[in-house]
Amino acid sequence: MSRRTLRPVFKRLWLLAPVATLGVGCSSTWGCDPDENWEQQTFRVPSTLSDGGVPTQDTSCVELCEALGATIPCARIPGSEVGEDGELIEQVECRAHFACEGRRPEGLCSDGAVATGTPALGALFARMAHLEAASVPAFERLADELAGHGAPRHLVQAARRAAKDEVRHASAMESLARSHGAPMPELKVEPFQARTLEALAIENAVEGCVRETFGALLAGWQARTAEDAKVRESLATIAPDELMHAELSWAIDAWAMERLSPEARERVNAARREAWRELEQDASTSHLPDEVTRPSGLPSTAMARKLVRELASELMPGALA
Ligand SMILES: [Fe+2]
Ligand SMILES: [Fe+2]
Repeated sequence: MSRRTLRPVFKRLWLLAPVATLGVGCSSTWGCDPDENWEQQTFRVPSTLSDGGVPTQDTSCVELCEALGATIPCARIPGSEVGEDGELIEQVECRAHFACEGRRPEGLCSDGAVATGTPALGALFARMAHLEAASVPAFERLADELAGHGAPRHLVQAARRAAKDEVRHASAMESLARSHGAPMPELKVEPFQARTLEALAIENAVEGCVRETFGALLAGWQARTAEDAKVRESLATIAPDELMHAELSWAIDAWAMERLSPEARERVNAARREAWRELEQDASTSHLPDEVTRPSGLPSTAMARKLVRELASELMPGALA
């Protein structure tokens, strides 16, 4: 992958973007499975609905969520379980899907979730700010590791610059989150342990060559399509940096792969293929209401999947065959 390859691909895909108009997409507010972008939280079913009625087994999940003050519709209904005091608790499980991407560090244990009832758009930006903040230690560690593995100086310096970029990105997204009623989520990352060049290469392939690369494409997309001018302005400053981060991922990949055995290279590529499949799955199941996607500029579920497939076909032909 070279600069000459990635930029033309992005430019072609950005041409598919409707300029500052539509956008349906993905994201969410509540607690999450740290390994996935599915987010969910279980609530006790409210005793009364918004219209004063009493919920029954036939009450829709959306009605239950409205009564709870939740702002993103959920996808599933209820079950029940016995609470600590022996009480039978009727429950509803709310789910929404967040498909914004970036470089997550190993050991990331916070998920960027904010309190229930936070405005959905603010929660989306809070989650994005959390992801940007998580990228800071990811790049700092990467720079140290690259130096330790004898990588060329320009790669080490680029990783250090990227860490500084991510500080600015986190600040910009935090500002958007706060302006839409959401706080900056806490960031928790476990202390790093030394690892092999193969482990570094696998993480870089998954988090950099797939997820951060798609994130860079999304940032440029949002900069073109977000209906909120402040969002377009913020993403327009972030997108060029993210494109360089994506290119850095591929430059690190090229350097590392030359130094790995054929067996190790195959393991890196297997992880990369799996990351494309997971990303396509995430995009295919994304869901967000218009009131979140239109101002944020995130693509529709169908378009997000199309972008993932087009990008994968260019960067790793056959990965999503
Ligand atoms: Fe960033
Ligand atoms: Fe980045």
